[in-house]
Amino acid sequence: MATSSAISALSLYIVIAAVGSASQPPADTFVYGGCSQAKYNPNSTYESNLNSLLTSLVNSATYSSYNKFTVIGPTEQDVIYGLYQCRGDLSMPDCATCIAHSVSRLGSLCPESCGGTAQLEGCFVKFDNASFLGVEDKGVLYRRCGPSIGYDARRITGRDAMLAALASGDGGSYYRVGGSGEVQGMAQCAGDLSVDQCRDCIGEAVGRLKSDCGTAELGEMYLGKCYAKYTIGGALSYSNFRKGSSKNQLGIKTFALIIGLLAGIVLLIVFLTFLCRVFGGSGK
Ligand SMILES: *[C@@H]1O[C@H](CO)[C@@H](O)[C@H](O)[C@H]1NC(C)=O
Ligand SMILES: *[C@@H]1O[C@H](CO)[C@@H](O)[C@H](O)[C@H]1NC(C)=O
Repeated sequence: MATSSAISALSLYIVIAAVGSASQPPADTFVYGGCSQAKYNPNSTYESNLNSLLTSLVNSATYSSYNKFTVIGPTEQDVIYGLYQCRGDLSMPDCATCIAHSVSRLGSLCPESCGGTAQLEGCFVKFDNASFLGVEDKGVLYRRCGPSIGYDARRITGRDAMLAALASGDGGSYYRVGGSGEVQGMAQCAGDLSVDQCRDCIGEAVGRLKSDCGTAELGEMYLGKCYAKYTIGGALSYSNFRKGSSKNQLGIKTFALIIGLLAGIVLLIVFLTFLCRVFGGSGK
């Protein structure tokens, strides 16, 4: 019953995603957000319950990287559920800052919506009047695949091995980092899932990354209660989030790509000229 209502509520979500650059982002960079179509009445008990829920989330994030809350109203209509999850490597001050940003973002994104979801690089916040706590949700909320690296069996095999390691577990950890050198990846579950649900959810995200992103140099798969991402070639380094950004890398890559394209065009022109000469010559 709870499961089906959570799923139907989710299907009403309008997902708004940021179309951003792929440079290594700070924790409070917006990734996507969604709002339920159902609205509450201004100045209602629901609104004040929502405000107390959001305040609890922000306060809790100063000492815990995950928490869930249920605010009980005088009537069943006023009950509201919420949770937040910070990425496992964030420090407490960064977690609190990220949640505060998410909550203010939700306020402007979802005015008077009964439910809302915001994913920032470093944290996830969700609230709704339908219970979703402890419910596994593998629906795709947002997905991003970078440009293809082309046929490169070695690097794709490395990526797949890293993703398999992410899915299989790290001792049932809810925050998982994998890879080395040019292949990097990470996965994060929401803390309300059981260890088995978390493993299953990351397994689904990883499977979708491989099938949907193929040979992309960058893949991000955000499901309802977990996400997984990877990069090939060091465009992003998930294990280095706290060491500050290295935006140059992407700039250099893009530059290299443009030079590569120009070189390709020049070669094509040379080849066509050669063909013209050959055929022009043989025609005489
Ligand atoms: C809500 O309350 C505020 C302040 O109490 C008031 O100014 C506003 O008109 C009220 N809005 C509605 C829709 O009742
Ligand atoms: C959530 O609120 C909307 C709008 O008030 C209502 O239609 C819906 O039935 C509520 N859902 C639950 C589970 O209470």
